[in-house]
Amino acid sequence: MEAPLNFGIKRKISSWRTILQMENKTEVIVLAAGKGKRMHSATPKVLQEVGGRPLLQHVLDTVRSINPMKIHVVYGFGGQQVREAISDQELNWVKQESQLGTGDAAARAIPFVEQTSNVIVVYGDVPLIRSETLFRLVGMTRSERLVLLTAMATDASGYGRIIRDENGRLERIIEDLDASEEEKMIREINVGLIAAPARLLNHWLDRLEISNVQGERYLTDVVEFATASSPPAVTCPITDLDEAAGINSRSELAKAERIFQRRQAIDLMANGLTLYDPARFDLRGTLSVGEGSVIDINVVIEGEVRLGDRVTVGPNCIIRDSVIGDDVVIEANCVIDGAKIEEGCNIGPFARVRPDTELAPRSKLGNFVEIKKTRLGSGTKVNHLAYLGDTTVGKEVNVGAGVITCNYDGVNKHRTIIEDGAFIGSDSQLVAPVTVGKDATIGAGSTIRNDAPPGKLTITRAKAKTLQNWRRPKKKGE
Ligand code: UD1
Ligand code: CA
Repeated sequence: MEAPLNFGIKRKISSWRTILQMENKTEVIVLAAGKGKRMHSATPKVLQEVGGRPLLQHVLDTVRSINPMKIHVVYGFGGQQVREAISDQELNWVKQESQLGTGDAAARAIPFVEQTSNVIVVYGDVPLIRSETLFRLVGMTRSERLVLLTAMATDASGYGRIIRDENGRLERIIEDLDASEEEKMIREINVGLIAAPARLLNHWLDRLEISNVQGERYLTDVVEFATASSPPAVTCPITDLDEAAGINSRSELAKAERIFQRRQAIDLMANGLTLYDPARFDLRGTLSVGEGSVIDINVVIEGEVRLGDRVTVGPNCIIRDSVIGDDVVIEANCVIDGAKIEEGCNIGPFARVRPDTELAPRSKLGNFVEIKKTRLGSGTKVNHLAYLGDTTVGKEVNVGAGVITCNYDGVNKHRTIIEDGAFIGSDSQLVAPVTVGKDATIGAGSTIRNDAPPGKLTITRAKAKTLQNWRRPKKKGE
């Protein structure tokens, strides 16, 4: 029923992978030591998030998908924080004590790379690069040369520019800050990925000097050595500019977020999901979908979410870490977190479903209902203004408007059990621990402290009385 995302891409990659494993030994160096001054943030730049995942995690996931022999990550600023935030276990972490430039960073890692390997150097702040592009890059490094990924930018500012000779042959890279006015006009940019035989890169990195305004050792300066080498360095152009987006500022981060969200939305729609407006949909995690499901505008999906077939999600909903069964209808403005909702349930509008909630088939949660650590049996209805916490509710139960489980005594939480077929009258409080028996009825407005027996009416309501001599108070002077 569920089609995983990127289905087509994965198939393409696996055939590439077989070819590569036969012919290449690839290792990857990821540069992630910088602070990201232009972000003005205490968070290390590579931990800023796109689609709810750190930039560095995006890069690592893409790198991992090409199945390299080893991944080396150069880290430095916010060191411990960076290591802890990354779940990938099999990384060789290499510390760069002071951030002396991308060339210095690569030079820290190159001693760990086998001399006979091909190495790709990737920047940790280029999160939208695709696996196919990495494969193309690796595919071009079979001979003893450097390959450099380039793109034609519409706005090249901030990027290193590609300098070519009069015959169009690659010469070197000039960084934005070091470029003359004329060089700044060049639109061909360095995306930030190079591939080269490790032995040669090692040799070129040894020769790097500092000759620029930033006083740093630039990785990009190896290109000049590599073009003078034989065979000379070549470029590998990419046409999808989105992939080249390097993140240095918050506005670039926000732009990358939209690109990423659009990509995900396109993949989901290709798998059969209807999005009323893909520009007003955010997925920060993974979403798998069945057939014929529909999502209205301004919906945020977080963590791991599964939607079955023919699910309808109304506008302005947040769904996190939940499994939603076939034919479920979620009306506008619901927040659903950590729930399992089985087929045919109806939720909202304005319902809040908190973690450890399970709704059996065809149960119903109406407006202004909050529910937590609770299981509802099939066909049960909680239609208006209720709070159910730590409760087990049987089948075909009706919970009236304003019913509250008093599950917390100020110190401990206690459970409420409502058995099959019970009817809980409006505005009642069930003081846990307490059980309402099968087919029992609780009269409206009752406070139930002791178990209510099955099949009987239990009621604690005080008798109403009318005061015959009472008069409404009047305003003074009237
Ligand atoms: C770099 C390139 C530029 C390219 C652009 C693409 C250089 C000198 N310039 O510029 O040609 O167009 O990326 O986005 O390489 N880092 C370290 N240690 C350091 C310095 C940086 O690990 O000492 C890491 C950073 O964490 C970052 C990456 O290297 O992930 C790139 O550094 P950044 O300062 O962002 O380079 P740009 O100015 O963007
Ligand atoms: Ca950058």
